Amino acid sequence: MCGIVGIVGNGPVAERLVDALKRLEYRGYDSAGVATLVDGRLDRRRAEGKLVNLEKRLAAEPLAGNIGIAHTRWATHGAPTEGNAHPHFVDGVAVVHNGIIENFSEIRDELTAEGRTFTTETDTEVVAQLLAKYRREGLGRREAMHAMLRRVTGAYALAVLFEDDPSTIMAARSGPPLAIGYGKGEMFLGSDAIALAPFTSEIAYLVDGDWAVIGRDGAFVFDIDGNRVDRPRQISSASAYLIDKGNHRHFMEKEIHEQPEAISHALGHYVDFLAHRVKPVAGGIDFAAVPSLAISACGTAYLAGLVGKYWFERYARLPVEIDVASEFRYREIPLNPASAALFISQSGETADTLASLRYCKEHGLKIGAVVNARESTIARESDAVFPILAGPEIGVASTKAFTCQLAVLAALSIGAGRARGTLTEAEEKHLVRHLAEMPRVMAGVLNTIQPAIEQLSRELSKCKDVLYLGRGTSYPLAMEGALKLKEISYIHAEGYAAGELKHGPIALIDENMPVIVIAPHDRFYEKTVSNMQEVAARGGRIILITDEKGAAASKLSTMATIVLPNVDEIIAPMIYSLPIQLLAYHTAVFMGTDVDQPRNLAKSVTVE
Ligand code: F6R
Repeated sequence: MCGIVGIVGNGPVAERLVDALKRLEYRGYDSAGVATLVDGRLDRRRAEGKLVNLEKRLAAEPLAGNIGIAHTRWATHGAPTEGNAHPHFVDGVAVVHNGIIENFSEIRDELTAEGRTFTTETDTEVVAQLLAKYRREGLGRREAMHAMLRRVTGAYALAVLFEDDPSTIMAARSGPPLAIGYGKGEMFLGSDAIALAPFTSEIAYLVDGDWAVIGRDGAFVFDIDGNRVDRPRQISSASAYLIDKGNHRHFMEKEIHEQPEAISHALGHYVDFLAHRVKPVAGGIDFAAVPSLAISACGTAYLAGLVGKYWFERYARLPVEIDVASEFRYREIPLNPASAALFISQSGETADTLASLRYCKEHGLKIGAVVNARESTIARESDAVFPILAGPEIGVASTKAFTCQLAVLAALSIGAGRARGTLTEAEEKHLVRHLAEMPRVMAGVLNTIQPAIEQLSRELSKCKDVLYLGRGTSYPLAMEGALKLKEISYIHAEGYAAGELKHGPIALIDENMPVIVIAPHDRFYEKTVSNMQEVAARGGRIILITDEKGAAASKLSTMATIVLPNVDEIIAPMIYSLPIQLLAYHTAVFMGTDVDQPRNLAKSVTVE
């Protein structure tokens, strides 16, 4: 992960670099650093931990200079110490890097044998060391850059500053994204357009294998063979505002409460609310013609895909092959080139999801991207883009992106059902009417369940382990509940299919184990209740999340029952997401963890 920025400016750059880093902090926050060139000398400030520490350092020791590069780190190689923080300096070369240099240890051994001393534990230092070596051997800056790029393997977005050149930054991309921003008499470089939004909206994205020489008046882009290439400039829609928390304590809380509005925005794109029909998706995938569908994604986005599988199979009778992207791409799945594949990603930059996409593309499948970031690599490499329109999601734990992914998948599966003739017009209208209710129902739930959730969260914050159970689409939701809780509260949690309980996890049940059962009064309710009885019989503490009918039908004594309104099965996953998100959120708040930036995580995972 990590975020990188660079400015070839005509005024001081340090403050602007830090401003851009703030927009990239979602990519990592283990340490940060900035380097500039002042009177022919490279200088830098670095600090361990969050960006605020770097800001303090810069306030105490300001950094002049009209050209500079900066970095916010998510540590891969080497502890998150100041010494390992970027930019790395070696003999007049400064480097910032996002990605992993896979052959770093071989290069490091080779250079060490030549008598070079390494001062960090990072893979990135080999880039600076190689550039310095090639310069010592007499190569010019561009030649050194080109030679270094041919020597390293792996994933990288790089920015390089040479001490003997106050007018250019060099950049390279292989894997992680990198955008060049065109200003007036100034040029910019950043991991995404959002970082550059305060400076310019005119953006050109480098493609894999590109490297660039960026001066004040423009940029020259080359391919890996050193040939000049043109990358089209486009006007980015990324917002220049640094989104704030409003009246909320955390971005996550704000994003949970934004869901009714975000969902109605997303639905408006796919659904005709007057006619109660799904709009035809222009330029999209012909769901009527495909024999099957592949879905792949990571983390929460994968769990959205798993709910999507239930819907595509049920409403469109379309067989779905789904796996987490890190497995999907290596499984050697026999793929049918007549099929289509959907990749779900909030950031649109997740390395494993992108690799799975490319794998399917190589096998001739039509590619669809369900993304929040419409200018992302995953969106750009897809045949059809299905935006989720959730707006910027800053909290590392995904909330509104998840429910908007679900809303889009619901609409797509209904549209696919109509196209394939497996849903009648009346059935489509019935389902769409329920989708249209969703923002109102969500707002109602958010207004009523908070007190009960807060009380329950206080209890959960004392627990060491929590089990989540569900059947049907509530099964992926159980896994999502467990993921949300563990990532922000650090409480160990697992999500299971309720029917699997007696095949192993039941051994964990005792009076200390809270079991959160997601059980709307749907066609699975009775069976889920039997599983609850198995828990109750062993002294387990049940937290039942159900609806009015389910609460009335339940005879079991529970530790708590969260009652939601009765809703149709098609919208239940979105509605039941709210209590599980709020439970995780309030538990983490009680525990005093860093809710928006939990330890060890980053919002955009651009390494395998
Ligand atoms: C968990 C979470 C992650 C992401 C995953 C994929 O709350 O946010 O599990 O869902 O890293 O990220 P994207 O959607 O950007 O591909």
